[in-house]
Amino acid sequence: MSDVDLTDPALIDDPYPTLAEWRSQGPMLRAQDGRWVATTHAAVGATLRDRALGRIWSDWQPVEEMEPFNFLHRNQLMENEPPEHTRMRRLLAGAFAKGHVERMRPRIEELAEAMLDDLDPDPARPLDILATYAEPMPVFVIADLLGVPREDHVRLRDWSQAIVHMYEQGVDETTRQAAVRASVDFAAYVREVIEMRRERPGEDLVSDLIAERDDDAAGFTDDELVATVVLLLNAGHEASVNTFGNGLVSLLHHPDQLRRITSGEVSAATALEELIRFDAPLQMFERTATQDVEIAGANIRAGETVACLMGSANRDADVFGDDSLTGADAFDVSRDPNPHVGFGLGRHFCLGAPLARVELEVTLRRLLARFPSIALSDTPPRRPTWVLRGYESVPVNLTFA
Ligand code: HEM
Repeated sequence: MSDVDLTDPALIDDPYPTLAEWRSQGPMLRAQDGRWVATTHAAVGATLRDRALGRIWSDWQPVEEMEPFNFLHRNQLMENEPPEHTRMRRLLAGAFAKGHVERMRPRIEELAEAMLDDLDPDPARPLDILATYAEPMPVFVIADLLGVPREDHVRLRDWSQAIVHMYEQGVDETTRQAAVRASVDFAAYVREVIEMRRERPGEDLVSDLIAERDDDAAGFTDDELVATVVLLLNAGHEASVNTFGNGLVSLLHHPDQLRRITSGEVSAATALEELIRFDAPLQMFERTATQDVEIAGANIRAGETVACLMGSANRDADVFGDDSLTGADAFDVSRDPNPHVGFGLGRHFCLGAPLARVELEVTLRRLLARFPSIALSDTPPRRPTWVLRGYESVPVNLTFA
C-alpha cells in the first residue's frame, strides 16, 4: 500500500521532510486515494506542459445547490482548456497588456507608504503585519485595477476566502455552504460593477474587458465576464497575502539573509523569487488526462488525475543543487536564476505574475526600508490548510532603524 497520503495533517506544519521522502521514492507516485503524484521539477513541468492533460472542471454535487459556485468556475479561463481557454486568455492578456500593470506601480508605492504611516511602531505593542499591511494591500491593488471601490475590500476578501477554501482536501458542509453564499453575493456584486462601467466606462480593466466583449465577436460572453472578474479578485488576493506572510517569516527566521536585502546587497525583486520558491503559497495543482499518456515513466490513463506538487518541485536538488548554503533546502535570497514553479508553467502560467511581482516587491522593499529591525514577537500560527499554505497572523515588533 502506498504511503503517499495527500491529506496527512503533517503536511500543514512543515511539508518539506515528507515531500523530500516522496521525491526520493520517484518522480511519479501513486497516492493512497489512487491519484498520480508528480514529485520532481521535471515531472511537474512535464505534466503542466503536456497537451494530453488539462484542468478539467467537474461540477460539485449536489449540482442544483452548488450551481452558483459551479457557474463561476465553469465560465472562467482557469478552469477551461483550448479552444475556450486560448480565446479567453488572449482577451484577458490583451486587456492586461494595455499598460495597466505599469500604471499601477506609482499607486502601489503610494499605497504602501500611506499604510506604513498608519502602523504604530511601539515595541511594547506587537502587531499583526498580515492584518494591518499585507492583507489589505493586494485587495486594494486588484480593486484599483478593476475599478471597484477600495472601501469594499473587506467584503471582497471575505467572499474570496469563502470560495478558495473549497480548493483544500476534504471539504466539509459548512465550507460548502459558505462558498455557495459567497458565490451568489460575489456574482451579484460583479454584475452591478459591470453595469456601472458599461454606462460610465473608466480607465480600468473591467471597462476594457467590456469594450472587448462588446466589440469582438469572439469576446467574453456575459457569464464569462462575471466569472473572469471574480477569478481576478480571487486569484489576485489569497496567493499574494500568503506569499508575503510565508516569505517574511522565512526572512525573519534567517536574519543573515534579511540583512543582505536591507544592506542593499540583494534587491527585493531578486529576493522575492526566493521567497516564493522556498515556501510556496500554492503547494499543489491537479491535472486530468484526456487521453492515455506517458509522463516521467508512468502510464497515465485517460480520466486519471495527477497531483502536481509545486512545493516539492521547488525543493528539487536536481535543479537547485544540494549545497548546504545555496542548494534546494537553503534559503538564499541572491539565487539567480531561480526557475521555481510558484507561478505554474505551461498554458495556465499565472497571468497576474507581473502584477504580483510589482506589488510584492514594493510591499517588501518599503516595509524593510521603514523598519529594517522588524522581528517576530511570537511564533506565527499556521493556517490549518496545506494546499493554500499561509499563516493566520504574523505578529511582529516594529522599530525604526
Ligand atoms: C494562475 C500563482 C497572483 C491571476 C495561476 C497559477 C499559479 C498562480 C500557480 C496556475 C494555476 C494552474 O496551473 O492550474 C500565483 C501566485 C500569486 C498570484 C503565487 C501571488 C504571488 C495573481 C494575481 C492575479 C493572478 C495578482 C491577477 C491579477 C491569475 C490568473 C490565472 C492564474 C488569471 C489563470 C491563468 C490561466 O488559467 O490561463 N496563478 N498567482 N494571479 N493567476 Fe496567479
